[in-house]
Amino acid sequence: MTQDELKQKVAEAALEYVKGYSILGIGTGSTTRLFINCLADIKNNIEGTVSSSNASTEQLKKLGIPVLELNDVGTLDVYVDGADEINPQKQLIKGGGAALTREKIIAGASRKFICIADDTKYVDVLGKFPLPVEVIPMARSFVARELVKLGGQPVWRENCVTDNGGQILDVWNLSILNPLETEQVINNIPGVITVGIFAMRPADVVLLGGADGVRRIN
Ligand code: A5P
Repeated sequence: MTQDELKQKVAEAALEYVKGYSILGIGTGSTTRLFINCLADIKNNIEGTVSSSNASTEQLKKLGIPVLELNDVGTLDVYVDGADEINPQKQLIKGGGAALTREKIIAGASRKFICIADDTKYVDVLGKFPLPVEVIPMARSFVARELVKLGGQPVWRENCVTDNGGQILDVWNLSILNPLETEQVINNIPGVITVGIFAMRPADVVLLGGADGVRRIN
């Protein structure tokens, strides 16, 4: 099975987890894109969604699925999103698609976070995938120097401006043995908007698509 077929399987499997909820948090990326397509079949049961990016918003609207402001809906019951890496504690690296800030906000505002991915994303230790860090543009070089002090090799994702007007540093060669601590340390660097480690608010359920079907990690 190709990686895209695995993503499709897991996107379909996630539908089970949103049944009965009328307002859904929606992530960003290629796996979520497939999930949004699946939502079209049940759109009459969906009162609205809160979207984590302009790209997902556009797709939802095209399908006729309403998009609401987080400020207007309060706590969400369920949030569905992909990830770039997932460890056995359901801690994640996210931000490959540059939407990490809004993703982290919606994850934090949701009772249940369902993470969907193909099983190539499952790792023992986070950090092989370069860690995205969104920064205020004028702080980029300063934050990069601070990240070097932590042992990483930051690379500016040129030509990428986030939906919030931020820029992205992709940090290579950080072995993230203590995701909770690293998330907090990087969060505390002045100029950092969001670090793509999701450990303080990990996923609640991970659905992993593999050759043998969809595996659930609780
Ligand atoms: C978007 O910023 C990311 O956090 C995505 O959720 C992550 O990159 C997973 O994307 P794919 O589903 O495209 O692998």
